[in-house]
Amino acid sequence: MKILVTGGAGYIGSHITRQAQRQSHDVCVLDDFSTGNEWAVKDCETLRVNLLDKDLLKKCLRGRNFDGVIHLAAKSLVGESIINPYTYYENNIVGSLNLLNEMLRNDIHRIVFSSTAAIFGNPRTNIIREDHPKNPINPYGRTKLVVENFLNDLSISKKLSAVCLRYFNAAGADPDGELGEAHDPETHLIPTILNSYDRAKQPFKVFGNDYPTPDGTCIRDYVHVNDLADAHLLALQKLQNTDGFSEYNLGSSVKNSVMEVIKTCEGVTGRPLNYEIDEHRLGDPAVLVADNTKALTELGWQPVFNNLDKIIETAWNWHKRLSM
Ligand SMILES: NC(=O)c1ccc[n+]([C@@H]2O[C@H](COP(=O)([O-])OP(=O)(O)OC[C@H]3O[C@@H](n4cnc5c(N)ncnc54)[C@H](O)[C@@H]3O)[C@@H](O)[C@H]2O)c1
Repeated sequence: MKILVTGGAGYIGSHITRQAQRQSHDVCVLDDFSTGNEWAVKDCETLRVNLLDKDLLKKCLRGRNFDGVIHLAAKSLVGESIINPYTYYENNIVGSLNLLNEMLRNDIHRIVFSSTAAIFGNPRTNIIREDHPKNPINPYGRTKLVVENFLNDLSISKKLSAVCLRYFNAAGADPDGELGEAHDPETHLIPTILNSYDRAKQPFKVFGNDYPTPDGTCIRDYVHVNDLADAHLLALQKLQNTDGFSEYNLGSSVKNSVMEVIKTCEGVTGRPLNYEIDEHRLGDPAVLVADNTKALTELGWQPVFNNLDKIIETAWNWHKRLSM
């Protein structure tokens, strides 16, 4: 397939691009490199475009005939979205509208959209299915839900077909060791723990150990970034034969607490972690885990990195290269 990956220089997008190249797809990356990295894109056409730059976008996509678009380009820091909602609404919603407009203008009718568990807001059940109520509690989550709803409307009007993939906690790195997570600032648990080994005097902060969970720390669902990549390619494949709108929750469905992540990091690195317990943060649900049954059965998705050790080993392997 000929695939356009927006946000292909970012953490998840670069892994999708690499996995697609391994499967011999023809990939073109579109990115403004605002949070993405030049080194993360290799051996493919690259369009340096900000989705808000309508004229440049129009020029770059004119006459292009992609079999589908995987759309990841977005800002995704919850805290930043609360402080600066305008930037988030503009970048994530207007940027997506501009992209969709150019897709339709060029007869490109298939899109896989990078969504998030944040669209569900405070969970009413510990295990989240696709039909869980959608009540995002921050601007970031709301921007993603607006785009999901718009894609659904476009599919009803038969303008395009869409699959929305809602990731839980993306983690890990490509086992080849050339790609991995390198956000700045880093807010995700596993890289933050691994980074804190480089700053031995500053203890890693565990936000709360008074949650109603077996060890008192939050439970999350960690899903390997290459498994996410596989799901995107399966979703795009499905769109070659199926019209309409569909939605899938992408998680491993395995529950791991913050303390379990710390213990696993200590096991993998062979080093004790200097940590302390801090206040628990408002808005952090105790448990957030995907029910991935629909993705397994309908997409034929089979996560390979199905335990935390394997995920953290790849993240540690990458971390060592990054800090060399
Ligand atoms: N990392 C996670 O755990 C997670 C969880 C749920 C959903 N997501 C979603 O996955 C996607 C990728 O996340 P990530 O962690 O790889 O983030 P990232 O910041 O590493 O990647 C985003 C990429 O999009 C590009 N970009 C942003 N705005 C753009 C614009 N206007 N025009 C062109 N390019 C633009 C950035 O330069 C970057 O390369 C995002 O849409 C995010 O909301 C991520």
